[in-house]
Amino acid sequence: MEILEINYINFRNLSDRNIQFSPRFNLFYGKNGQGKTSILEAIYFVATGKSFRTAKNSELIKYNKEKMGCFISYRDNISEKTLTVKIDSRKKEYSYNGKKVSFDDFYGRLNVVSFIPEDINLIVGSPAVRRSFFDGEISQSNSEYFKNLKDYTKLLKLRNKFLKERDYKNPLFSIYQEEFIKIGAKILKTRVDYVKNISIILNLNYRKLFDDKKELSLKYNSSLGELKNKSLEEIEELLKEKIKGSINQELRYGFSLVGPQRDDFLFLLNEKEAKSYSSQGEKKSIIFSLKLSEIDMILKEKRENPIFLIDDISSYFDSIRKENIVKYLKKREIQVFISSTGELDINSKNFYINKGDIDGRDKQC
Ligand SMILES: Nc1ncnc2c1ncn2[C@@H]1O[C@H](COP(=O)(O)OP(=O)(O)O)[C@@H](O)[C@H]1O
Ligand SMILES: [Mg+2]
Repeated sequence: MEILEINYINFRNLSDRNIQFSPRFNLFYGKNGQGKTSILEAIYFVATGKSFRTAKNSELIKYNKEKMGCFISYRDNISEKTLTVKIDSRKKEYSYNGKKVSFDDFYGRLNVVSFIPEDINLIVGSPAVRRSFFDGEISQSNSEYFKNLKDYTKLLKLRNKFLKERDYKNPLFSIYQEEFIKIGAKILKTRVDYVKNISIILNLNYRKLFDDKKELSLKYNSSLGELKNKSLEEIEELLKEKIKGSINQELRYGFSLVGPQRDDFLFLLNEKEAKSYSSQGEKKSIIFSLKLSEIDMILKEKRENPIFLIDDISSYFDSIRKENIVKYLKKREIQVFISSTGELDINSKNFYINKGDIDGRDKQC
């Protein structure tokens, strides 16, 4: 996939602009606090409908303005398309090819993988951070998973309400529970398969780019125990049994204690959990390898490369790691957007960012 151009109005500190991109490398460079990350964020925002920095819509709108909007045209294997996201009076509106669509019909059309310094949270943060990340990633290329997650979240809320009110004798409770188990098992099965596949690629990428003497793996850590070689039916049966065994405790707590909403994803470097044992440099390299592996997973599912955003490459990696990364990216047929405080050794379309505006030799519009 390839973004041809972007147009943004009232996005953070950026001056309203229309920019045409290179199909390969695009570099946003300039001093700190000028708007480099904001441009990457605008691209990510219009591709996914979300920001990679905040969950609050209002933060994205330029100070003292009410509305904001981003538009892009992009090309996939089939044709040219457009996506628009607008925020007006705190309400978000999505369009695809000029027609208003729901978020469900918007998400996953243009695939994007991003790497920002805050992604280190994927290792050091809470299990909820990892669940939400992997759910988003799997959903990008698996719309059935996306739908299952939505249904499951609804059922979980309903089930928790029954548990809180101790209304478990209500016939509706067992009807919802049956569905809860069925969809919960599907989510678990998809996650386990995803982890199995990405873990192999993750190890290869880590060894190729950063350290060929170590073994990196990703493990799915479920409240149901080891699920690696279990079938969907077996997982469903396990979930059913576990829920049966926990019901008294669940009634005491007033919410569901088993299911995918309680699970975690663990990064293991040489069998040791990265969260507790890996150095800062290793953690960064693990996350970068994860992002490259996501690109491979999307390519496998969709038979197309996603676009790749890398924020602040120069302050994040030392020069050897940076060189390895650039060398690797040069070999891939992928559109890349990089922000950096300095120029890089790549043949890129360069945009100098100064006080929210695009300045200098590649000034557009
Ligand atoms: N909603 C907003 N409206 C206007 N300016 C903003 C908004 N949000 C953040 N900023 C400002 O935008 C500037 C650029 O931020 P950023 O894109 O992170 O810069 P860089 O990545 O170049 O260091 C910062 O000075 C920040 O205070
Ligand atoms: Mg920045």
